[in-house]
Amino acid sequence: MASVKNEIELFKQFDDLDQESKYLAHKAKDAAGHAYAPYSKFAVGAALILDDGTVVTGSNYENAAYPSGMCAERVALYAASAQHPGRRIMKLVVVAKRKGGKELVPATSCGPCRQVMLEFESNQSKPFEVVMQGDNHIWIKAPSAASLLPFAFTRDHLDTHHKP
Ligand code: THU
Repeated sequence: MASVKNEIELFKQFDDLDQESKYLAHKAKDAAGHAYAPYSKFAVGAALILDDGTVVTGSNYENAAYPSGMCAERVALYAASAQHPGRRIMKLVVVAKRKGGKELVPATSCGPCRQVMLEFESNQSKPFEVVMQGDNHIWIKAPSAASLLPFAFTRDHLDTHHKP
């Protein structure tokens, strides 16, 4: 039986990542090129792959009324669900670059994006990998959204029968 990794893996170089992650990172980089980030000038791209091989991308969209903007990860997750309902997400890769810059820069998903990832993961009852670049050019590969959000708030807490 194939062993399932349950730990967060760190890679010193982009090239050390698996082929699928690198492919999705390139797709995410293309998506970052479509970001609308005139305020932060920080372009983020996300690419996820579904169980039928479909790739869905997202980029961040900002707004003059700042909180109205949306992160790349959630754009990709919501688009995937809206366009391919019922499909399982296998992996999500996030990259970022500064306006005018060519190189990727670190961007680890914000708390609200992790929370949304977790809800998608819970609903499909199967984990999906999350790959992103941390500080010092380290690439992070998490085995699940849950591994990125310990002690998470979930729908179980809303259950009136839930015993703390
Ligand atoms: N942003 C994302 O899209 N994803 C992340 O993981 C981090 C932050 C966006 C939000 C905002 O448009 C800009 O990056 C600066 O915070």
